[in-house]
Amino acid sequence: MDVQSAVYGIIGYPVAHSLSPLMHNAAFKELGVDAVYKLFPLKENELDGFFAQLREPSSPIFGLNVTVPYKERVIKYLGNITPLAQKIMAVNTIVITKERKLIGYNTDAPAFLSHLVELKFNTRDKKIAILGSGGAARAILAILCMIPERPDSIKIYNRTPERLDILLEDLRTRIDISIVEPVRSIDDLDIPGADLLINTTSVGLKPGDPGLVDEELLHRKLLVYDLVYNPPLTPLLKMAQKRGAHVANGLSMLYYQGVLAFQHWANVQLDDDVKLKMRQALEKGASQSVRK
Ligand code: ATR
Repeated sequence: MDVQSAVYGIIGYPVAHSLSPLMHNAAFKELGVDAVYKLFPLKENELDGFFAQLREPSSPIFGLNVTVPYKERVIKYLGNITPLAQKIMAVNTIVITKERKLIGYNTDAPAFLSHLVELKFNTRDKKIAILGSGGAARAILAILCMIPERPDSIKIYNRTPERLDILLEDLRTRIDISIVEPVRSIDDLDIPGADLLINTTSVGLKPGDPGLVDEELLHRKLLVYDLVYNPPLTPLLKMAQKRGAHVANGLSMLYYQGVLAFQHWANVQLDDDVKLKMRQALEKGASQSVRK
């Protein structure tokens, strides 16, 4: 009998450049699991139909990642979301049980923290500056306000101030964001006095993108964390390196969120050798992917 492989995948729009298939298919291969991870580019008007099919007993899909622009919009389709996902109000991982129940998780936020641990950056009493107010900023800002290693302050700037205000209004209803200060200019981020600068905007992805901040503001005591990982060194990170700052890009966060997602789907902890294969697949993919 021809038994169909289990299917996992990522929904979003666009998803063509996602590196997630490389990472998860490497893990399936290493584990000898008969499963495949696919791309599901979905237009907005296709979401209802996709989720209706997902609940069918015959569906081969048992796990999904969710990316831009659907991390908030998928919540209404889910039977259950974890308390963390509920606080952040964003889901990037969905587990589908044998009974076709849909459970939503946020693995972006813990992935960011795992990467900070790897970088040996302790957030306690630190001064943090954030650029951007999109989906990525939502997860990072929320988790930074929730951890016991509470930062001293978080200043956040967005090109469109109204969007920042809406984000803070929403988070404030569920999370203590008293350490967060929205600012109206990059100068007011006080980068010279900050320990960590995080770029959550998409600026840096495209060739010719600016570095976002004045180079003179960057300094040796600063960790500059750019969520963009393609190119691996954005103009911001290049400037930061020149100024002797520590730098990190978003590839490790992608890796950690993928490991956590996989562990939720399989309900197991992955061994180090499998995780290494995932990381290597991701790094190879990132180094080969063509920049648009
Ligand atoms: P993501 O989920 O990856 O965060 P998003 O929700 O589309 O993506 O958010 C993109 C972020 O990048 C926003 O903060 C956006 O700023 P606006 O709210 O003003 O649009 C920011 N961004 C994108 N292009 C930008 C640019 N050229 N200059 C400054 N900020 C930019």
